[in-house]
Amino acid sequence: MEISRQQWAKNEMYWRIERLKIRIQKMIYNLANIARELLWRAREKNYPKTEDGRTLLHIGCGDINSPEFINIDARKSSHIHIVTHNIFRLWMIPDNTADLIYMCHVLEHVPREKLSKVIKEMYRILKPNGKLRISVPDFDHIIAIYNDTDHQIELISPPLMGGQDYPENFHYEIYNKKYLEKILVAHKFGDVLEWNPFDVQFHNFDDWASKNVMFNNKEYPISLNLEASKLQ
Ligand SMILES: C[S@@+](CC[C@H](N)C(=O)[O-])C[C@H]1O[C@@H](n2cnc3c(N)ncnc32)[C@H](O)[C@@H]1O
Repeated sequence: MEISRQQWAKNEMYWRIERLKIRIQKMIYNLANIARELLWRAREKNYPKTEDGRTLLHIGCGDINSPEFINIDARKSSHIHIVTHNIFRLWMIPDNTADLIYMCHVLEHVPREKLSKVIKEMYRILKPNGKLRISVPDFDHIIAIYNDTDHQIELISPPLMGGQDYPENFHYEIYNKKYLEKILVAHKFGDVLEWNPFDVQFHNFDDWASKNVMFNNKEYPISLNLEASKLQ
């Protein structure tokens, strides 16, 4: 079927406008990146770094204030450098910035439909070969506690469902090693390994990663501690 000159001109105009829209979108994206980079460079001067110049982010740090880390949390406090709920969109942090991102007992507070966005955001922010260090309640440990304590729900409810004493302390997801490893690998992370809170660099504080719980005079670990590298 032959198209009229008028129709042809209309089509041509449509595609010109579409191409222009894409160019404008790219320009806005690049300008936003430049603005973000400049803003970060200005703010970075007030943020901590390690002695050898590494950038470490502690996301969901809560009360922990380790002096080498840039602290990020949803709840305001004097030691928190960046206060935000939106850990799936940390717009103020440029791509390839962090050498290490540490998240201890935070991922379980992320609703399932946002989890992928959060992991992608961590990937974006990490430098190539940078490390994502995670600790979460381990469903397999919780099941062991449940089975050893005559199936007492009240003992496993807090580690499973969260402390529920403030809005950011409710759990949305459960994890075990197989599941978390699968998620990390699906998001282009590699070299997934367990890490030991008593024998790992940049972990000289007490947090959930190293806590055990006592039931019937028996100590149980509670956490699954996994670390992965950003593959290029
Ligand atoms: C169970 S506490 C763990 C605190 C600390 N990491 C520890 O192990 O002792 C969870 C922390 O994550 C923070 N948090 C939860 N959801 C968050 C979100 N969407 N964005 C930022 N922080 C969040 C909470 O405010 C809280 O400080």
